[in-house]
Amino acid sequence: MNITLRNIDENNWRDCISLKVKNDQKKFVASNENGLAIAFAHKEMQPRGIYYGETMVGFLMYAQDPDDGVYYINRLMIDKKYQRKGFGTKALEILLNGLRDSGVESVDIIHKPDNEVAIKLYKSLGFKLTENTLDENVISNVIPI
Ligand SMILES: CC(C)(COP(=O)(O)OP(=O)(O)OC[C@H]1O[C@@H](n2cnc3c(N)ncnc32)[C@H](O)[C@@H]1OP(=O)(O)O)[C@@H](O)C(=O)NCCC(=O)NCCS
Repeated sequence: MNITLRNIDENNWRDCISLKVKNDQKKFVASNENGLAIAFAHKEMQPRGIYYGETMVGFLMYAQDPDDGVYYINRLMIDKKYQRKGFGTKALEILLNGLRDSGVESVDIIHKPDNEVAIKLYKSLGFKLTENTLDENVISNVIPI
């Protein structure tokens, strides 16, 4: 499966903000406009387009917390047209492998407690729910070995 993660820049930001989830999924993830605005304000954010071939099909973002050094993923979405094709799983695998290869030993992912689809996906990659919370979100953690 030809999935790659690419930086968001002046050439592809429009593609990024055109990606949308289904209406009933909007409660689980803020818009990509919101994600890019956060990335503009917080320079540690690493926003990435998820590409299938040359088509951007999704968006994710991760960061290393500048205060405590913790790595966390705070965005993952696949456009409604491209869901259920394995792209979300593959994108996370690529990210986790890359972080592991650069020496990262633990990665958090922030999500809504009732996002059953995402939780199933995260569990399949080894994430375990922690007792930590962030606002109305919960946090799962994985050691990317
Ligand atoms: C969560 C999300 C990123 C998954 O991306 P995806 O590319 O569709 O997921 P995958 O195709 O890799 O699916 C992996 C597994 O998740 C589960 N899954 C995915 N979509 C599902 C759905 N609509 N209903 C039930 N299970 C689903 C299945 O177990 C699936 O494996 P299977 O197809 O072999 O049964 C996508 O549904 C999405 O963008 N949702 C809205 C935003 C969101 O909730 N993001 C997470 C915020 S933290």
